[in-house]
Amino acid sequence: MRIAVAGATGLVGEVLLGLLPQSRFADAEIVALASADSAGRCLPYAGGELTVSELTVDSFKDVDLAFFAIGDELSQRFVPQALDAGARVVDKSNAFRLKEGVPLMVPGVNDEALGDAKLAANPNCTTIGFVHAIAPLARFGIEEVVAATYQAISGAGRDAVSGFWAQTKQALAGEPDAYSTAAAEALRVVPAVDELIGDEHKEETKLRLESAKILGLEDKRIFATAARVPVLTGHSVAAHLKLHDEISEEAVRDALGESPTLQVLPTGETPTSADAVKHRDRVVVGRIRVRPQQRTVDLFAVADNLHIGAALNGLRIGELMI
Ligand SMILES: NC(=O)c1ccc[n+]([C@@H]2O[C@H](COP(=O)([O-])OP(=O)(O)OC[C@H]3O[C@@H](n4cnc5c(N)ncnc54)[C@H](OP(=O)(O)O)[C@@H]3O)[C@@H](O)[C@H]2O)c1
Repeated sequence: MRIAVAGATGLVGEVLLGLLPQSRFADAEIVALASADSAGRCLPYAGGELTVSELTVDSFKDVDLAFFAIGDELSQRFVPQALDAGARVVDKSNAFRLKEGVPLMVPGVNDEALGDAKLAANPNCTTIGFVHAIAPLARFGIEEVVAATYQAISGAGRDAVSGFWAQTKQALAGEPDAYSTAAAEALRVVPAVDELIGDEHKEETKLRLESAKILGLEDKRIFATAARVPVLTGHSVAAHLKLHDEISEEAVRDALGESPTLQVLPTGETPTSADAVKHRDRVVVGRIRVRPQQRTVDLFAVADNLHIGAALNGLRIGELMI
């Protein structure tokens, strides 16, 4: 089998290359693709090395499965080329997530949505952790969700991480330029992630529309406020759910506890973004508060945005596809 990784030099691509040798695709030949600047670079792979090639329209010859971890515009351009060449594609960008006919997959939550699709989309990194955390409560009928997210810097890619370190050094040195842009995240919480359209930032829109598509909820019943926080890796979300059915704390804890992708903490233990990195293949949930009479649940969930929130989710989609 031949597997292409487009964006092999990026944060998500790097994690995927770390996961592939331990997956069902351990024996596959890997084609590492990135920009012309990276062509010829050697990347560590399974104790050996891979040489990066430039992503071109001819990159997908004889490729069975292609993982795309590049930006939206590049995916728009190259995913059709990969499909035309006969590959199955898992795309991690925003390009196809809401397109009708393209399943938006969180394996373990909506596996049945895949069907025999040749292209599947990987949701936004915040959506994945959020959906894992609330999906087990869908059996009680989710009437409304209010979410506040605390998103790590690495969710915005390698350049954002370098920019963050530069800003932080400037801020610690007391240089006023550190805060020259409204989006400067060094030592601050910034509730303005990506472009503002109407009264919603794009990351909020993604969480709302993507979660609705995956869980079959009405998007107007999901309210999100997204903040970027000075954390390197590990997205957090505080969620308040209004449920339809009568509930008890025991029933809610049992439902969450049954999910193999959740690590549910006992009362009194607090999930932090560090737990996300410690349990990279799980979403860690805690601060569970149930008000049976109001039929509400509050919880706090953390997830590694590069592992379960991106590369691992994509890999699991690939494993379902082939
Ligand atoms: N970071 C996350 O937590 C996360 C989570 C879920 C989804 N995603 C999505 O996954 C994708 C990748 O994110 P990332 O964080 O890994 O980004 P990143 O660290 O910025 O990496 C971007 C990748 O794209 C490649 N690239 C850039 N321009 C290119 C070109 N002209 N031709 C070919 N390759 C090119 C880069 O190659 P060079 O090194 O050669 O420039 C690099 O491999 C994005 O669509 C993002 O929205 C990210």
